[in-house]
Amino acid sequence: MADPTDTAPLRHLLTLEHLSRATLETLLSRAAALRPQALGHGARDALRGRTVVNLFFEPSTRTRSSFQLAALRLGADVLNFEVALSSTRKGESAVDTLRNLEAMGASLFVVRHSDSLAVTELAAHAAATSAVVNAGDGRNAHPTQGLLDMLTIRQHKGEDFSGLRVAIVGDVRHSRVARSDLHALRTLGAGEIRVAAPAALLPDAAELQGTRVCERLEEALEDADVVMMLRLQRERMEEGLVPSLAQYRQAWGLSAARLAGARPDAIVMHPGPMNRGVEIEDEVADGPRSVILEQVANGVAVRMAVLLELARV
Ligand code: NCD
Repeated sequence: MADPTDTAPLRHLLTLEHLSRATLETLLSRAAALRPQALGHGARDALRGRTVVNLFFEPSTRTRSSFQLAALRLGADVLNFEVALSSTRKGESAVDTLRNLEAMGASLFVVRHSDSLAVTELAAHAAATSAVVNAGDGRNAHPTQGLLDMLTIRQHKGEDFSGLRVAIVGDVRHSRVARSDLHALRTLGAGEIRVAAPAALLPDAAELQGTRVCERLEEALEDADVVMMLRLQRERMEEGLVPSLAQYRQAWGLSAARLAGARPDAIVMHPGPMNRGVEIEDEVADGPRSVILEQVANGVAVRMAVLLELARV
């Protein structure tokens, strides 16, 4: 049976779960074609006259900046809504905030929130002419990060993921990035998805379906083609889940010596922000196998593709 998402235009982008392979591949191809413009070469005004609002209820460096640049490089007006300086501080709800910004003519909303349900809830209240992009909601999803990670893998390993061994390492439990990556990797047919974390940082069993759980980092790295390291997210963690940073580093930190167990052409990814010297050593983060800054560059292209898609351009 045809997947309805193959033909229906995207209304919002809240998660990669349930998006078809065709939809993901269309977005990735579109992003790949936009790379020169994403890096600032050649003006384009596909979104001239449209207003994109960055509505971030949680801190962000890469995601917010790259949505802003993506929108500006498409000719849109961009409002970086300052939550900390706004009436949110006086108790105004996110829905009322959205409605006020809609009344000023904004129609594309990029929303980050610490609550896993907040962005979906906001999308449900958006006007018919508005679209919402989830820029990270609690532990739930971070779809544009998932897409930019897939674009980065494609650039290095080609479009056929069926022969790839992909290791996702670290604080998977609290990671919306890992959730979106898992959805996309499954849909795109990754050969073997390995999830490696101390038991306390593994997600629920249902989320691990179709993956191979590794109890040791070395096992996850063996002959891996792609190594995705995750930040230890202490802000989302109850106390005591990790014994100490030093112990975590010793068992789960990616050093050059450990990376030697992966394939010689393996790529190392990290969504940022990195805890250097905890989950990843400088020698790897800044080393020859690192594609971490390519992920950042791809983020602009992916966000351009998503904004164009949601604006129906
Ligand atoms: C991530 C996030 O905020 O979800 N960062 C990002 O967007 N690149 C990952 C993290 O916070 O660890």
